[in-house]
Amino acid sequence: MIVGVLKSTTSPISPLVPDLAKKYIKHDYQVILEANCGSLAHFPDVSFTEAGASIHSEKEILKAADIILTDTKIASDQIKHTKEGAIIIGRFNPLTNKAFVESLTATNRLIFSLDMVPRTSIAQSMDILSSLASLAGYKAVITAAEQYSGYFPMMSTAAGTVPPAKVLVLGAGVAGLQAIATARRLGAVVEAFDVRSAVKEEVQSLGAKFIEVEGSKEDKQAGGYAVQQSEEYIKLQKQLIHERALNADIVITTANIPGKTAPLLITKATVESMKPGSVIIDMASASGGNCELSEDNKTIHINDVKITGNSKLFESAPQESSRLYSTNLYNFITFLLKEGLDQLPFDHEIVQKTLLNQTELVSVNK
Ligand code: NAI
Repeated sequence: MIVGVLKSTTSPISPLVPDLAKKYIKHDYQVILEANCGSLAHFPDVSFTEAGASIHSEKEILKAADIILTDTKIASDQIKHTKEGAIIIGRFNPLTNKAFVESLTATNRLIFSLDMVPRTSIAQSMDILSSLASLAGYKAVITAAEQYSGYFPMMSTAAGTVPPAKVLVLGAGVAGLQAIATARRLGAVVEAFDVRSAVKEEVQSLGAKFIEVEGSKEDKQAGGYAVQQSEEYIKLQKQLIHERALNADIVITTANIPGKTAPLLITKATVESMKPGSVIIDMASASGGNCELSEDNKTIHINDVKITGNSKLFESAPQESSRLYSTNLYNFITFLLKEGLDQLPFDHEIVQKTLLNQTELVSVNK
């Protein structure tokens, strides 16, 4: 079977790294990839050819591959040139990219999006959102530390004591917990808030204070994710966050609700009242932002407060992001093809959640 890898046109992340190429080849796959597929992630072409893979044009890859690995995009025009029945795997953000999903209905290929992997133990090794969010949470703190004019740890000097930075983390999911852990390791005093009370213990075990707002709405059916809150709760929450943000030097926001606009947690009025020199890192900027003033992929200054909007901070560490992403893809393929190409597990929750198009192939193969 041939695994073909397309070079990403949207990010520096590679869907394959040389160590994984070796693994595919060891399991009797032939691996072909586009030139410079991993160069932005510091994996030159020679590292792939030394691993046993070979470099081909996009056209050759589309035509020959049984499995196509990509990053965030594959165009209809490219799909058209793939083999009938080909398996295409990427991270396509289908909850917001509805036009892409609709364009797949008449496509007799199997197209999987790994950002839809369910949050279950068995799917953990394929969960790209967790892998990348974790790296992004770390990078958010490092970015904030660079932008902040103070210091993270408390320091005692002959000229006096430097106080520790006060960090407020909003949203304590995968990225938020990693941000808390990183900020704590650097010596900051950390407070965190999440609508899911289940994270309270995790926040506290990392040495941070959990800010509580009574009356949050939780839904077990939401697969561990947050759900939208009542008006009254939102009002209470805003007031408390406003107070805690005025006390903070750094605010890192990670709050998301899958497929919906991100909840607004830091208002313009809050930003305008924050201490001069404060820093906000809004990791939900791609889905509308948790901060009213943030702009996606930009750093702006409002009243001496720096606001960075960036939902893809993992891209600033492309080598490790590629390693994790390509491992998640490899684990998914291993799971999918466990019983062979003609017995794909269409009834399994992982396939049902990640498969974007119900093609004739599903019923034929069933
Ligand atoms: P996410 O990126 O969708 O959201 C980030 C955080 O924002 C979540 O913790 C969410 O509760 C919080 N949030 C949403 N609205 C908020 C609001 N108005 N105010 C404050 N916080 C708000 O979520 P993520 O990080 O992808 O993880 C979601 C859940 O999935 C977590 O419980 C995580 O532990 C769980 N998970 C389970 C896995 C598994 O069992 N295999 C793997 C990865 C995550």
